[in-house]
Parts: sequence; structure tokens; C-alpha cells
Amino acid sequence: MKSVVMPGHDPASRLLAPARFQRVVVAISGASGAIYGVRLLQMLRAMDGVQTHLVVSDAGWLNVQQELNMPRAEVEALADMAYPVHDVGAALASGSFQCDGMVVAPCSMRTLAAVALGLSDNLITRAADVMLKERRRLILLVRETPLNLAHLRNMTSVTEMGGIIFPPVPGFYQRPQSIADMVDHSVSRVIDLLGLPQPDAPRWAGLPPVVMPGHDKPAPDCDPGASTPGDCHSVPGSSPGLQHPGAMDCGSGP
Ligand SMILES: Cc1cc2nc3c(=O)[nH]c(=O)nc-3n(C[C@H](O)[C@H](O)[C@H](O)COP(=O)(O)O)c2cc1C
Repeated sequence: MKSVVMPGHDPASRLLAPARFQRVVVAISGASGAIYGVRLLQMLRAMDGVQTHLVVSDAGWLNVQQELNMPRAEVEALADMAYPVHDVGAALASGSFQCDGMVVAPCSMRTLAAVALGLSDNLITRAADVMLKERRRLILLVRETPLNLAHLRNMTSVTEMGGIIFPPVPGFYQRPQSIADMVDHSVSRVIDLLGLPQPDAPRWAGLPPVVMPGHDKPAPDCDPGASTPGDCHSVPGSSPGLQHPGAMDCGSGP
């Protein structure tokens, strides 16, 4: 099967102008969580100047069907180009294909192992291999639980080679109201890692300042602008007496 330029996409303007477009390879492998790959495609599609190249493994298509009940054509239509996973002769298989980054979402333990060992046994693992050899950004949304030592070692190997292991583990500090909230939060962080601008992405603005019992001012060592939840909580030995006025209201985030 040949690589497909998706209908409605203009190859002349979108595929032949790498200087104007960020090219991102999106791969969906057979781990649970096909929604992450699909949502990533949707969010990248809504961004100006981003061109997506999609590869889905055989097991990835199984999970798209099982988890999302989405027809293949509908998923492929979210990308600018879609490639058969066994087409190791596709452009993506070469370092000469100018590309800014690759995300495997979700990434199965099999694909992780193949990337960790440099197996390049299909177009996903070959494209990932190219990312690592060309020192480009590679982000793997690995999904399995619990993890055995092979999984952990493979994650270490990929990290040592410059890849980013990004298990899509949801945070609860922004009080997600739905699965879509949790998925969007992870995908938005992935897009940050690709270096693409997201001016409208919701961002954590920090907890309100901590007020010590008997004081009417924030604790001196509290950084009200802390970007990581917990920074203001961690006053050693004093947490039972600490209060965050309005803390119950801050969870929805800015
Ligand atoms: C419904 C379903 C869910 C699966 N979930 C996972 C998973 O979460 N993580 C994982 O590593 N493998 C999972 N697998 C197994 C992989 O699909 C299998 O190892 C496959 O060979 C991976 O091939 P791929 O890496 O080429 O996509 C799942 C399989 C099925 C059918």
C-alpha cells in the first residue's frame, strides 16, 4: 500500500514547505490509550503551521477499533500523510526527511523494546531510530502496569539515547472533570515538549499563599508563583497547621 495524502489537504502548500511548517511524526502502537494518539492528531491539526505524518501499527489499529470504535479512514484523515507500518521505504525512514519530532502515543512495551534495541523492524521503530540518530525529539507515551525489569531497562536505554519517556499518568491537582480533561492535559504537555506554542493552554498558576496559624500574611518561604503543586505545602513539620485559604477553589486552574 502506498503512503496516503489525506483528502482536503494541500500537498503543494503543506508538504513541500518545511521551512514554514513544523513536521511531526505521530505513531500509534498497540498499547491501551489510542485516544492519546487521536487527540494529539486533533490538537496538532487545529494548530497553524504543523504538518503531521501518521503511522499506526497493526495492534494499534486493533486498539483504535476496540477502544474508540473509529474507522481507519477517520483516523488517517486527521493527518496530512498516513503511511502503512510495514512501508520501511517511506520518506520517514530516512534521516534526510526533515522532521522536528516524533511522538508514539500510546507506546507499547514491544515498540519500546524495539526502539531501545534499535531494531527498526517497522516504520514506527525505524522512524524512532532516525529521530535518535539525528538527535531529534522523540517522545514515547509508554503504557503498561505494573512494569517488569525489561520495561524499566528499556525506558532507561531510550532515556540515555536522548528520548523522552512520557507515561500518560494523569495529575489530579487541576481536578479533571472527565477522561477528556485528563487526556487533554497529557497531550498538551506533549505539545509543549515538541516546542509548539499553545497560548491558550490551561496552565497551573500555583496554589494560593500559605497562611500560618496566628498570622495574617503568607509564610515567608512560600512562593506564591510556584508552578508545581506542593511547593507551598512543603514547610517541614508544619503541614497539619497550614491552611491554604481558597485552596478548595484553586483546583480548576486558570
Ligand atoms: C486490547 C489490547 C490492549 C493492550 N494493551 C497493552 C498495553 O497497555 N501495553 C502494552 O505494552 N501492550 C498492550 N497490548 C499488547 C500489544 O498490542 C502487543 O504487545 C503488540 O504486539 C504490540 O505491537 P506494536 O508495538 O507493534 O503495536 C494490548 C493488546 C490489546 C489487544
